[in-house]
Amino acid sequence: MNEAQEHAISTKRIIKTGFEMLRKTGEYKDPEAYDYIVDKFLGRSKLAEDLINCLQKRLPVQQEIKVLDEAAGTGALSLELAKRGYKTYATDISQDMMGKLQAKAKERGVNISPVLANSNNKLPFEDSSFAAIVTASANRYITDLDTFLRETHRVLNKGGYFVWPILGADIIPWKRNSGLDQPTLSFSLAKQMEKHGFTVQTDMIGSLFRNTLKGVPAYAIPTYLIGQKK
Ligand SMILES: C[S@@+](CC[C@H](N)C(=O)[O-])C[C@H]1O[C@@H](n2cnc3c(N)ncnc32)[C@H](O)[C@@H]1O
Repeated sequence: MNEAQEHAISTKRIIKTGFEMLRKTGEYKDPEAYDYIVDKFLGRSKLAEDLINCLQKRLPVQQEIKVLDEAAGTGALSLELAKRGYKTYATDISQDMMGKLQAKAKERGVNISPVLANSNNKLPFEDSSFAAIVTASANRYITDLDTFLRETHRVLNKGGYFVWPILGADIIPWKRNSGLDQPTLSFSLAKQMEKHGFTVQTDMIGSLFRNTLKGVPAYAIPTYLIGQKK
C-alpha cells in the first residue's frame, strides 16, 4: 500500500468516526481514529490538562486519593489524572475504548483501573468511594440525567468534587440525540446538580483566557461546573 492509499484510508476512518461521534448510540468502533480526531480537532489533551488543574487546585494530590473518570473513552482525562499521581479509575460502556485506554496507560507507564459501566445505570461502586469524579464529552449519551447525577453523588465522598465541563459541541447533539426534554445549558445543569445535593461553582470566563486552552476551538472550550457533595 502506498502513502496516498494509506492517507485515503485514514481519511475515510476519520470521516466515519466523526459521524459515529454524532450518532445517538455512542458506539465507537475505531478508537485510534477517535483519538486522532479529539486531539487534532478538539484539543482534548489541553482540555484534560486544564480540567485536572481545576481539580488539583481544590484537591491536592496525595497518596491513595481515588478519582473516577466516567465515560473515559480512550482516557484523555484518566491519563492526566494518573500522571499527576491520583489513584485513577475509569468507566466506559465500550470495551474497545477501554482497550485503547489500557494500551495507552501501559505505553506511558501509568496505572488506571478500568471498569465497564453504563453511566445511565447504577454504578458498580460502594457509596462514598471517590474523592473526585470527572467526565468529558459524553453528555449526549446521558439519557437519564437523574440517575447519572444521583449515582455520581452517591459514589463521591462527602466534600468530594465532581468536575463537569460543558462544551459548546455537546449541547446541540445532546438535545437532538436524547429526544428527551432535559436541560443542556450549564445554568440549568447546575440547578439539576443542586437538586441532587451538590453545591455548585461555575468557571465560564476563565477558560476563555487560560494559556492551557490556547488553540482549543471555540466549540470545545468548557464551562466548568464544579460540584461539591454537601
Ligand atoms: C466522545 S467520547 C468521550 C471520551 C473521553 N471522555 C474523552 O474526553 O475523550 C464518549 C464516550 O462515552 C462512552 N459512552 C457512551 N455511552 C455511554 C454510557 N451510557 N455510559 C458510559 N459511557 C458511555 C463512549 O463509549 C465513549 O467512549
